[in-house]
Amino acid sequence: MTSIEQFIHDMPKCELHVHLEGTLEPEMKFDLAARNNIALAYRTVEDIRASYGFTDLPSFLDVYYSGMSVLLKEEDFYDLTYAYLKRANSENILYAELFFDPQAHTSRGISFDTVIRGIRRAQETAENILGIRTQLIMCFLRDLSAGFAMATLLESLPYKGWIAGVGLDSDEKDNPPLKFQAVFARARAEGYKLTMHCDVNQQDSVKHLWQCIDEIAVDRIDHGVNSLDDPKLSAEIGRRGLALTVCPVSNAFVTEGTQAGAIRRMLDQGMRVTVNSDDPGYFGAYLEENLVVVQKEIGLSREDLKQLSRNAFEAAWLPQTAKDDYLSRLDAYTAA
Ligand code: HPA
Ligand code: ZN
Repeated sequence: MTSIEQFIHDMPKCELHVHLEGTLEPEMKFDLAARNNIALAYRTVEDIRASYGFTDLPSFLDVYYSGMSVLLKEEDFYDLTYAYLKRANSENILYAELFFDPQAHTSRGISFDTVIRGIRRAQETAENILGIRTQLIMCFLRDLSAGFAMATLLESLPYKGWIAGVGLDSDEKDNPPLKFQAVFARARAEGYKLTMHCDVNQQDSVKHLWQCIDEIAVDRIDHGVNSLDDPKLSAEIGRRGLALTVCPVSNAFVTEGTQAGAIRRMLDQGMRVTVNSDDPGYFGAYLEENLVVVQKEIGLSREDLKQLSRNAFEAAWLPQTAKDDYLSRLDAYTAA
């Protein structure tokens, strides 16, 4: 490990954009398939990895949803979540906000309760044993109806204490933020924080970003790289201090590159940009590796790396006292 890689590894970190279902590694796919008596279309872990030739968001999503077929029982969701939290803890991630996609499971006949109980139990165990703190963000699948999203929101209400906010993911084409305006207004009224994916280089990326800030009033933007296409838009996002959760290695799979240059520009403009992993089980890079890739590509300094970590802790959906505690641990690390 080079000294800058060691610096990245040891730095106290915060992850704000990781899909729990996207942390499903091929090895675990086999283990869960065996445990649940499910036949997989692949014979080996290498065969599975070789099939991960995504070229765009829809081709990734096909593999991502079909991979979930091995997740059936509460203990499956527990094992999936705990494996990610162990990995995150080993990279010095102190705090993470975790996306989950309940509709990808309830639409297969698995109850909301099964999904969230398994995840929650892993969060509690990991916090007690490893000390890593996490919160959940429930995502709606934007290629399904607004009615299904609203029904899912209502189904989540008994578990409100376990969910910090709501997000919007899946295929963005022809599925604008405005389609879910009523769902997100209700989520806000219920006390949830709001974020939405604005994936990179979509058909109406800039329009969707404006809808997110003007009509939905999101608290954060996932990806959002195309905000740089419109100077008024990027200035407004900066003025509001809205965080952007950029996922470089994921971007390299579904667009033509890591968008590391966009991260440089966002840092230079004082935008609250953060680096995250998205679907590390599929893209092969957890948070630490994403930072290493960007550092190598554009030569981030230690000060830049610290700024990225600070941005993430500042953007966390936590009380200010908790954020201050993490920020002072980051300061102590970089001062040493
Ligand atoms: N974009 C949209 N939907 C997703 C993603 C993403 O990056 N990851 C998992 N579902
Ligand atoms: Zn994502």
